[in-house]
Amino acid sequence: MKIPPYKDRIIYQIYPLSFKDSNNDGIGDINGIISELPYLKSLGIGIIWLSPIYDSPMHDNGYDIRDYYKINPMFGTMDDFDNLLKKANELDIKIVMDLVINHTSNEHKWFKEALSNPNSKYRNYYIFEKGKNGKVPNNWQSAFSGTCWEKVPNEDDMYYMHLYTKEQPDLNYKNEEVIKEVENILEFYLKKGVYGFRCDVINQIYKTSLKNGKFRLFGRGKEYYESQPMNHVILKRLQDEVIKKYGAFLVGETSNVTPEIGNIFLKNCELDMFFEFEHSFCDENKLLPILKKKFKPKNLIKPIFKWQESVPWLGVYLENHDQRRSVSRYGSDKYYKESAKALSVFLLSLKGTIFIYEGEEIGMTDYKNYSYEDLNDCASISTINTAMRLLHLSRDKVFKMINETINRDHARSPMQWDNTNNAGFNNGTKTWLKVNENYKDGINVKDELNDPNSILHFYKKMISFRNSSEALKFGEFNRVKSNKNVAKFIRKFNDSTLLIIVNLSSKNIKDKDVVDKNILINTESNILNGELKPYQAIIREID
Ligand code: NOJ
Repeated sequence: MKIPPYKDRIIYQIYPLSFKDSNNDGIGDINGIISELPYLKSLGIGIIWLSPIYDSPMHDNGYDIRDYYKINPMFGTMDDFDNLLKKANELDIKIVMDLVINHTSNEHKWFKEALSNPNSKYRNYYIFEKGKNGKVPNNWQSAFSGTCWEKVPNEDDMYYMHLYTKEQPDLNYKNEEVIKEVENILEFYLKKGVYGFRCDVINQIYKTSLKNGKFRLFGRGKEYYESQPMNHVILKRLQDEVIKKYGAFLVGETSNVTPEIGNIFLKNCELDMFFEFEHSFCDENKLLPILKKKFKPKNLIKPIFKWQESVPWLGVYLENHDQRRSVSRYGSDKYYKESAKALSVFLLSLKGTIFIYEGEEIGMTDYKNYSYEDLNDCASISTINTAMRLLHLSRDKVFKMINETINRDHARSPMQWDNTNNAGFNNGTKTWLKVNENYKDGINVKDELNDPNSILHFYKKMISFRNSSEALKFGEFNRVKSNKNVAKFIRKFNDSTLLIIVNLSSKNIKDKDVVDKNILINTESNILNGELKPYQAIIREID
């Protein structure tokens, strides 16, 4: 059977604002990405996922699209994008775009028309609804806190829905024309040679009814808009009528997905893979995510293992643009390098398509010196305002709290290329978000390339190991009983069986399988005699 590239290659996520700024205006751009393609090739990357580069007023950094057929001038032009596709293709790197179709920007021409003219056909492109007894139409919430309804100016008692910010009105998937518009967008980019799409909040697009949701602290209403039967039907149609024709693929961002629902997405070929989020909540307080919860390795290992066992394939990640940096969350200050390497062994040994987020390969960390004035993330700003209002906490207090929990800016600081001005992100005077100062302490690509013991060198080794290992790429997954701080599992394909043992703690841990026999990967250089050092990880070939 022919293996599709998305099952055979590692995907690298680029957040275009922060990757590389070629014209020194403080904002990353397409030409910057082109200039670093050889770096990605040498890293062993086969596919790039680009966070949105479409024209946008940037209320949610591009996840609010004003024109799907235009490139945001801050990133370049359509010619630059075509050039990126060409240059990437020359290096045999494929490009995946972000598809944001649950909502558009409120500056999209469809929405502007819908708002200014109630009789226009575009009204039915969105979800407009009369209020109830002088109040919003229902009790649903926006994912970024507060109601998901915004009053239509100059109209009596009329609202529109936005599951995210009010600048991101939701599209109406009960309207056939909206689905046609999406098919046209897909075709437009597939014809250019794009290999697939990462589909933003794709299991929320269809709203079955607008009844009040049952009481919950967060996500009220989701029983009527998450993974609805018609959502499955629409995705299947997009696949059958468009995606398959081009041999392309879809990876879905699917919030609150369960193994049952995930398996439906896969079995019916609605999505080729999806992201689960259970493990990414392992250090979040369920009732109040802005409250810090102490990280325990077993709380990360358990959900990851559960998903490895529950579905035949999935998108596997530790970082993305919405999460704090993994080494800051799950690693250690004291054993910084060791823990980053251990996380790389864990990530790159799992079953599924591996996603690496820009900077993860050099061990980029969360900010330390950062103030409210520096904050850019719209979700954090909205959460701070709500928490101040409802919990009567001071702004500084909430800011401190979100900084240790949900602040998405942490992963969005400019990529650290070298130890010159602005970490080599650009050669100008400004950057759109502050550069993390620790680029001066050796956390940057250039310094790490010069250090054979660096995190970057280790990633390269691990990526190349995975790229050439059938067991890691296609093997079955089996957990092995171990100490609770250790992720221990087997990957097996035909005659090749690999045992992976990862210590995710700062303790020395005894394990009888940690022996000097058929060692293929070792994050340390010690002789193995039945004990793992703090954050040590090994891979052995076994019979
Ligand atoms: C998920 C994206 O990853 C996030 O960055 C964005 O804010 C929301 N979807 C809304 O589009």
